[in-house]
This record gives sequence, C-alpha cells and structure tokens, in this order.
Amino acid sequence: MNTLPIIALDFPNREDAQQFLSTFPKEEQLFVKVGMELFYKEGPSIVQELTDQGHEVFLDLKLHDIPNTVYRAMKNLGKLGVAITNVHAAGGSEMMKVAKEGLLEGAQSIRSQVKPQLIAVTQLTSTSEQSMQAEQLIPHSLHESVLHYAKLTETAGLDGVVCSALEAKWIHEQTSTDFVCLTPGIRLLTDAKGDQQRVVTPNQARGLTADYIVVGRPITQAKSPYEKYQEIKSLWNEEN
Ligand code: C5P
Repeated sequence: MNTLPIIALDFPNREDAQQFLSTFPKEEQLFVKVGMELFYKEGPSIVQELTDQGHEVFLDLKLHDIPNTVYRAMKNLGKLGVAITNVHAAGGSEMMKVAKEGLLEGAQSIRSQVKPQLIAVTQLTSTSEQSMQAEQLIPHSLHESVLHYAKLTETAGLDGVVCSALEAKWIHEQTSTDFVCLTPGIRLLTDAKGDQQRVVTPNQARGLTADYIVVGRPITQAKSPYEKYQEIKSLWNEEN
C-alpha cells in the first residue's frame, strides 16, 4: 500500500489549487489527484507545475475511445510524468492494452524516473445495479460486472482498478497480489458524507486491503487542511 493519502484537487483553476496547497509546509511531498475540472481549465501545464513542486500526480481523466485514439492520447499523458492515470474498462481489453503501451512509451521518451501505473474504472460508483441492467443491458449483478471488469483489466496488463474499499478485498481475492485497488469514498466518522453513498474511514480502508485512498472534501474543505491531512494519513498508516 502507498503510505500517502491522495488528495483530490477538485478546484476550478490553478490559483485555487495553489492557494490550497500553500497551507501545507513547502517541503511536504504530496500525492495529488488532478481531475477533469482542473485539467480542462489549465491543461498539461498544471501537471508539470505540480510535479516540478515535487508532488506525485494521479491524473484522473478516465479515457474511453477507440484503441488507436487512446494509445496516442496516453503517449502524450506519459510524457507528463504522472504516477497514475486511468481509462474506462468498458473500452475493452484491446483499448486497455494499447493504452498501457502508449503510457509507457510516453514515459520512456522523456526518460521519466517514474514508471506510471494505469488503472481502470469498472462501473462508476454513481451507477446503480438497476440503471446498469436497464441502460447498459447487462443482465448480471453490479458485483459480478465489477469483478468481470477487474479481471478483464488484469488480463489486459493494467495495474489495478478504481473501486469502493468495500469491494477491494473481494477483488484482491480474485486477482494477483500486485493488482491494486485505489479507493475514493473515504470519510472520518465526524465528516459529512456529501454525495458519496458508501463511505469508509481510512483505517477501515486499510483493513479492507485498499492500496491507495483518495480523499477530497474532508481535506479541501477542512478549517485546517494540513491538520486534517495528518490525521487521515496517520489513521491510514495505523495497523488495524
Ligand atoms: O470529496 P471526495 O472525498 O468525495 O472526493 C472523491 C474524489 O474521488 C472526487 O474527485 C471524485 O470525483 C473521485 N471519484 C469518486 N468515485 C469514483 C471515482 C472517482 O469519488 N468511483
């Protein structure tokens, strides 16, 4: 497991993201997530800026297109020095396979010190079993679909999946030991759940065998973000 909680930089622009980061000690190396909102506003330079500051970046853009397009896009993302990025498993095994090739080729072309990891989204946590069955015409349970996509992801040679911590143990039982589960939906008992339905604490996530946790609002909206980050980090690193 990675000892640093990944902080979701869900901010509309560079200024707000940097204002938030300025509340952390300058020398503190962080693992941050850049999603579509910030990336589509600022472009690749925001990733460059964060890596230049010494932070590791999970670029959460969830690519899903024909294999050739995703391969070429991933080659460009690999040149940004990201630690982790992702695709939708629904794009299929060929798309995932060439996405990984593109990402590694991109990273090699800049002689990056980091070997980026590629993970896949199985079913979005906003998808209910009912809507999956009615809209995607998948006649199985949500759990079966998530597990199917996790195995497809592993067979395609990817490094892991984004999933709920509640699904991590079950995915780990059916995949190889180095296959990672990156889990959002993390809250302390005193935090508001927001729009997350099924949440777990950082120490529960660890007990449930999550490899990475992604935490947004509990840190970004805290009165003292750094203190809250430290609290979450120590719970995440605590033996159960
Ligand atoms: O604020 P909060 O801790 O809920 O943020 C969680 C982050 O993880 C958000 O950036 C959200 O988009 C992301 N995420 C998620 N569920 C997924 C995939 C990503 O909550 N299945």
